[in-house]
Amino acid sequence: MSALLSVEGLDAGYGGVPILRGVSIEVSAGETVALLGSNGAGKSTLLRAISGLIRPSAGTVTFAGEEITRRAPHQIVRRGLVHVPEGRRLFARQTVASNLELGFFGSGVARADEAARVEAALDLFPALKTRMETYAGLLSGGQQQMLAIAQGLVRDPRLLILDEPSLGLAPVLVDEVFAALTELGRRGGTVLIVEQLADRALRLARRAYVMSQGQIAAAGDADTLRGSNALEEAYLGVGAELAHDAGERT
Ligand SMILES: Nc1ncnc2c1ncn2[C@@H]1O[C@H](COP(=O)(O)OP(=O)(O)OP(=O)(O)O)[C@@H](O)[C@H]1O
Ligand SMILES: [Mg+2]
Repeated sequence: MSALLSVEGLDAGYGGVPILRGVSIEVSAGETVALLGSNGAGKSTLLRAISGLIRPSAGTVTFAGEEITRRAPHQIVRRGLVHVPEGRRLFARQTVASNLELGFFGSGVARADEAARVEAALDLFPALKTRMETYAGLLSGGQQQMLAIAQGLVRDPRLLILDEPSLGLAPVLVDEVFAALTELGRRGGTVLIVEQLADRALRLARRAYVMSQGQIAAAGDADTLRGSNALEEAYLGVGAELAHDAGERT
């Protein structure tokens, strides 16, 4: 069976400055795949290029058998590819319930079906069920992240793309978010997750890609990558340069 998401030879950047160079990745239905790499490696840029937020200058993105490379973001999301971006873009002064409702925007889901969709999405996040009338801005960081994910889940995505869901969360809240993602995977969900906490991500995901300087530096089974040097090298490549620079300045 062919992959649900297939990215081939993708080049993309900002205002003519190239960032991604020949990136190829695949995600099959039902798997959780991690995308790792140091700060500035190009992870978020890759996610943006996949979901149509920036236009690739070369290569292709194929989703569910259809090429979506230069489609607009709203057309891509309607095909079931939902991107939860870095940071939690919630409406702080609106309730949990209305933030979830906003998740349906442009989805074409019938009003009559919305309640059932919300119910299903909140199955993974029971803590939110009792806080439906709370302003999103008053939730804990972990609950805000859960709400951001639930807002994507109400669309019943075929692929959920998450950009650093653990960002800024205390470890106990990271546990909660990752427990929910583990359960999502167990229920057959398909997830592509960018994560700084490599160890966490490699326990959650079945496979992973490691990015370095806009390219895929390593790829493989999560268990294999955990024990290999590839990951360290991708991170240390940058870290070593920084240490070197710092040394020169003293
Ligand atoms: N909107 C933008 N305009 C111009 N350059 C950008 C923009 N966003 C990111 N970049 C640059 O693109 C490169 C890759 O950034 P990107 O955000 O994709 O990295 P990342 O792997 O997601 O890093 P992080 O772990 O810090 O989130 C960096 O050099 C960054 O400075
Ligand atoms: Mg990023």
